[in-house]
Amino acid sequence: MTTTQPTRPGEWVDSGMGLADIDFGRYRMDIPTDRYTSAAYVERERDHIWMRVWQVAGRVSELPAVGDWKEYRLLDQSFILVRGKDYKIRGFVNACRHRGNALCSGKGNARRFLCPYHLWSYDLDGQLRGVLREKENVVTPLDKAGMSLLEVPVECFAGFIFLNPDPDAKPLAEFLGQEVVDLLAPYHLDEMTTVLDVRESLNCNWKVVMDAFEEGYHISGIHPQLLRVILIDPAKSRYRFFENHSVACAPFEVAGASKYGPEEQVEGILELPETFPSVQAVLPRFQELVAAYRDSDGVLSFPDGVAPRTLLQTATREVLTGMGLDVSGLTDAQMSDNHGWVLFPNFFMTIRAGEATIIMSLPHEDGDPHKSHWHIMSFMWLPEEARGAFAAEAVVVDEPGSFKYFLALQQDYEQMPKQQIGLRNTALKAMSLVKEEVVIAHYHSVVDRYLENSAG
Ligand code: FES
Ligand SMILES: [Fe+2]
Repeated sequence: MTTTQPTRPGEWVDSGMGLADIDFGRYRMDIPTDRYTSAAYVERERDHIWMRVWQVAGRVSELPAVGDWKEYRLLDQSFILVRGKDYKIRGFVNACRHRGNALCSGKGNARRFLCPYHLWSYDLDGQLRGVLREKENVVTPLDKAGMSLLEVPVECFAGFIFLNPDPDAKPLAEFLGQEVVDLLAPYHLDEMTTVLDVRESLNCNWKVVMDAFEEGYHISGIHPQLLRVILIDPAKSRYRFFENHSVACAPFEVAGASKYGPEEQVEGILELPETFPSVQAVLPRFQELVAAYRDSDGVLSFPDGVAPRTLLQTATREVLTGMGLDVSGLTDAQMSDNHGWVLFPNFFMTIRAGEATIIMSLPHEDGDPHKSHWHIMSFMWLPEEARGAFAAEAVVVDEPGSFKYFLALQQDYEQMPKQQIGLRNTALKAMSLVKEEVVIAHYHSVVDRYLENSAG
């Protein structure tokens, strides 16, 4: 069964660059180790990257009601995100304009922000409202309009709240680029429910986390169990590089599909939920579709153009559409293939129709290059009535290592600090990338551009 597809943004994969098309001379394939270990480098990153870049500071669904607010911490900086009476989400520097006290920490709901120190108060849009014993105290008439909370740019995209500490930042759409916006729109990420939300500190640099999710080269070493279900073929990977960001796709195929007969291939698909739990919901329809290709003796054979992979895609499209998700803007391949997105500087996402997982990393507030925080979130598209039952509470892990992730993520979690131990060795001056790590090479070229001060 084939689906007729009008032009869809996801078709870029068909014409996307493979490893053989990439000019590796464009990228530095040796990455100096001091960017993972030097305190001076942390300072440079703070000033040249973090204080001037759009970054995901939360999910729109975290602030559903007027007055809902949360703190966003970045290194030694603290910001407040709050939904105003006009329903708009704004960002403010978390400092009272009187003597600088932090207004709040954590999250909550408020009609106004009341500074606990001397009780100055601010509206949800940052306007200074009340000054304790104002008449008796102010030296000259107070310019209340000029004493609003300091605002920072905040914009929302794909259900994420982006914040930029730079008051003169260019618009988020310009930073993301139109192509990125168009490619992500058909997934309807903004409608997805958060089903996992965990953060904890890690003993490695924040870029060790980013690097670890920018390549599949470590699957054989760290995630051998994935080799049973996924075919790893670097020749089939496709890449797209944007000014700051990138997307890569390794077409999903059950390992050994070409070697095995129809029954074994179907069995491979049926085993997928052990590694990809959300496939479970699609399997009953998949098996119905498979049954149509059995003859009267029960023998399975597929005509040209039909394979378990294509039937899985058909079943996924039908099931998601039946649940109410509009997948008309996604290609058949996007029903089964994960696309790996890197949004500079600290956002990695793997996404396919109906689900996504993101990994974000942040430098540690101590300024210690050997420590970071990671934040994992998984999203699923669910019918309205099921969203409440599946929505996850945010978990902050106090005792590092005590939270158990799903197997592949647990393996990454345990691996990353070991790389940091090696990187700390003074004698090791650089890492050497291979072709399959081209996304890391592109990513560090963006890091370099920011540090050279030429990016805005
Ligand atoms: S520091 Fe906020 S009221 Fe004084
Ligand atoms: Fe991994």
